[in-house]
Amino acid sequence: MRAFNLLKTNQSSAFKTISSFYSSKATFKFDDLQLELHKTKPNLPEDPAKLLFGQKFTDHMLTIEWTKDAGWGKPKLGPFKNLEIHPAAKVLHYSIELFEGMKAYYGVDGKIRIFRPDLNALRMFKSAARSGLPSFDQQEFIKILKKFVSIEKDWIPKSTAASLYLRPTFIGTEGSLGVSVSNKALFYIIASPAGPYFPTGFKPVSLYADPRFVRAFPGGVGAYKVGSNYGPTVYVGMEAQKHGCQQVLWLIGKENLLTEAGTMNMFVVLKHDNDVIELVTPPLDGTILEGVTRQSILDLARRDGKLKVSERNIDMKETLLALEKNRLLEMFGAGTAAVTCPIERIVFNNKNYEIPTMKTGAKHMSYFLNELNSIFYGKKKHEWGVVCE
Ligand SMILES: Cc1ncc(COP(=O)(O)O)c(C=O)c1O
Repeated sequence: MRAFNLLKTNQSSAFKTISSFYSSKATFKFDDLQLELHKTKPNLPEDPAKLLFGQKFTDHMLTIEWTKDAGWGKPKLGPFKNLEIHPAAKVLHYSIELFEGMKAYYGVDGKIRIFRPDLNALRMFKSAARSGLPSFDQQEFIKILKKFVSIEKDWIPKSTAASLYLRPTFIGTEGSLGVSVSNKALFYIIASPAGPYFPTGFKPVSLYADPRFVRAFPGGVGAYKVGSNYGPTVYVGMEAQKHGCQQVLWLIGKENLLTEAGTMNMFVVLKHDNDVIELVTPPLDGTILEGVTRQSILDLARRDGKLKVSERNIDMKETLLALEKNRLLEMFGAGTAAVTCPIERIVFNNKNYEIPTMKTGAKHMSYFLNELNSIFYGKKKHEWGVVCE
């Protein structure tokens, strides 16, 4: 009955319904952190461009166990190692799993920063609630994460094009086959040095838009960063490649509303009469991941006040009409991995549509990219860049 009600409610009231189940104040605590550190030398290539994403990991990992009976255990920062897991663990069968993706940056002032960790902590908290996993204090999580980053700081490439990718993860580990709440869970954080997303300058992407496939749907879990949103996209990615595209443009509904591009949020820049330039991104209706980069671009654009900023639906018809009338200036994806990624072509209904993002100079996209990079690498002091001491 409750599940049925969830389908009928909008995103924020759905979250209130979910979180009321998990309003416990129990949490892990930074003060309980146990350190079991071992000294090793980070093994980073001289050229960060040689770092392939997610292949190499740092020396340590953070783990915190939880059981229904004993609650949260003590956080442990110890050697990076394989997990031992029951073959019937719920994560392996029903994808009771969620994660975050964030980065630590080595700044031009020698300080290490993470970016708006409060937004990742909140998103992780919401994903946990939606997965039936226990709640935790978001500030305790941030304190532990900062400590982890400062211990692994030598793994952060000293380059304003590279970073240390952080992967907080939360899994249901109870070894029993029923589809039910997991009475055992493991929260962990691992980290992987990451090179530049575009080692040789911007490489615009082509998107494959096929209305037969949807990433998320109303009442589903598109707004949460749960593993079950990602595995099934691999096949569609293969379809995209068959059509010469690098990523999928996820559409929804009979109007073919634009939702996301691969694993990025989407922005469209439109030119209207009277020189009005509109920055459009689809609204957070429950099918869109609440991206930290998306939110930051919106915040910057609203701060500057130069563009008309719209969180509204935009469909293929409007997009292609704007393209035809030369009113479509830019399309780009936004996410932690690439920050911003220009879109140069869409394949839709077996037709190629050239998107003029690069031809127009990608002016707006580049502005947001530069602003954000300045904050990541401490070129501009900003409250969003949180120093890890
Ligand atoms: C589906 C999806 N959309 C959008 C994003 C961008 O979110 P963020 O800016 O927080 O990295 C991501 C990446 O995390 C994603 O997986």
